[in-house]
Amino acid sequence: MPTVTINGIECEFTKGEMVIAIANRNEITIPQYCYHAGLSRPAQCRICLATFEAPNPRNDNKLEPMMGGKLLPTCATEASDGMVVTIESEKAVANQKAVMEFLLINHPLDCPVCDQAGECTLQDYSFQFGRGHSRFTDTKVVSPKKNMGEEIYMYSDRCIMCTRCVRFTDEVTETHELMIDGRGDKCTIDIFPGVGLNNPLASNVIDLCPVGSLLDKDFLFAQRVWFLKRSAGIDPFTSSGDNIWVEHNQGRLYRIKPRTNMDINTWWITDEVRYGWKFVHSDARLTQPMRREHGMMVEASWSRAYGQVIDTVLGAKADGKKTALVVSATLTNEEAYSLVKATRMLDENVELFVGPIPTDGEDKSFPNPQHTKQFVQRAEKVPNAKGVKRVLEAMGGCKEYETFVRRAGEYGAVVLTANFPSTWVTDSLVDAIANTKLILIDTTDSVLCTKAEVVLPSSSFAEKNGSFENCDGIIQHFDQGIPNQHQSKAEGQIALDLIELAAGGKLVEHAPGFGSLIVDEQPGQVASTNDSILIPRGELYEASVIRERMVDEADSLSMFGSDVKLPPRVELVESDMEMVEL
Ligand code: SF4
Ligand code: FES
Repeated sequence: MPTVTINGIECEFTKGEMVIAIANRNEITIPQYCYHAGLSRPAQCRICLATFEAPNPRNDNKLEPMMGGKLLPTCATEASDGMVVTIESEKAVANQKAVMEFLLINHPLDCPVCDQAGECTLQDYSFQFGRGHSRFTDTKVVSPKKNMGEEIYMYSDRCIMCTRCVRFTDEVTETHELMIDGRGDKCTIDIFPGVGLNNPLASNVIDLCPVGSLLDKDFLFAQRVWFLKRSAGIDPFTSSGDNIWVEHNQGRLYRIKPRTNMDINTWWITDEVRYGWKFVHSDARLTQPMRREHGMMVEASWSRAYGQVIDTVLGAKADGKKTALVVSATLTNEEAYSLVKATRMLDENVELFVGPIPTDGEDKSFPNPQHTKQFVQRAEKVPNAKGVKRVLEAMGGCKEYETFVRRAGEYGAVVLTANFPSTWVTDSLVDAIANTKLILIDTTDSVLCTKAEVVLPSSSFAEKNGSFENCDGIIQHFDQGIPNQHQSKAEGQIALDLIELAAGGKLVEHAPGFGSLIVDEQPGQVASTNDSILIPRGELYEASVIRERMVDEADSLSMFGSDVKLPPRVELVESDMEMVEL
């Protein structure tokens, strides 16, 4: 394999690769602003320039400076075998300092109030590659703040004109909302009059912007980024399986960002995935169990509520009526399995249904000119229809949701799960469950809460771990980010509690909130949980343990032992600053 030496490190490459791509893959630092692997390469910011030497076959393959020793852009120069590249030469370093000084001439010194501070490459490169002081004594050009679209503000005077945002709307979304207006130091990025930056992938420009010029309205002044911790997540709102980072602090979710996976979502996510999490902290969340007493819904402890669940199913069985379990396609594979096991312990003839699978239009593809894989926005608006169906089939058969709605009146008891981010209950469902006893396990309030026998509050996607199977059959695990909100529990935990009780065991009281896999504590961070209330539970729900049981259960579930893709380990950032007690 051919090799190139970058900053003294020998790296293998495939023909046609740019030097900067090889350096990035090998974690060799080359400063870069305009380059992004998913976009075209205009080589215009000039910060990545390096000195190049290559073997000359006409001179015994001796190393000779390329292009007469001129600096060349590493983002637009293909590697060749034996090439030697350095960004540490005197010339390259002088160029880096000059570019940084130039970029900072008109840049405001407003890092203390800029949302990008802490994840800004202008800030980082000023420290690593800049001069440390400015020789500019004239008045800075001040540019306006602009409202670019539903989710995006622009602070024009922070822009360094890398044009990543413009190229994204030209090359990926092909919606062309952005343009460069003006010339010289009066240049600004703008939208055409009356055209908002509102395409389905619009907020990816916020991630692409290397400085704090394009900002997320939703995250504006919400949190300093160095307080955020991240957990590896999977798109919980569509069947895409897009890889995401769930970013949170002190038990509160603050934003969702794309996690690069070149086999699935490449570098991007849709805005519906990015902003769909608002229900996690909404007032509509169910906060504690409820149960029907003398015809009225009253607040209940988990123990009382579980008791009523068991009595309801056993009562239906005693009356010679069947029980139905409806497993929502928003739940994890492990939860689907655990819920079947739990309800079967109460009624071995329970019938299994998958929940509603809403769709919106058709799948929509977006080109990725620098990669063979297109980015696709999925029409199916649940994350795990394939997985839930697979598990239910393996556990005795999976019937469609429409069949359940048609036949709901036949059942003495119905265990219904949902966990949708927005209103999902239809009139036909309300009519269907009118003459049955409903055990509702859901995240947010709905009219069903007034019709149920028992309501159990469940955790959102961010409060549990598990795996989803996407529309292409790829099974991926995701981690728990934040503690359970209020008194909610993951559906998997509810199932394990019921299994414990049905087997004649006892629940033990624990502080709510903590699952086993909250990977989020860093120096200086404060854990968030309300441990003044104790909540009873059985065995702690942990997806990897449940998967081992699924493999033993049926051959058709063996892929849960071998095919589940695990997320990367989240690297904890150790602070290099001394912590001072205040
Ligand atoms: S707004 Fe950001 S992404 Fe767009 S050109 Fe300016 S610096 Fe680059
Ligand atoms: S990153 Fe190479 S010129 Fe901008």
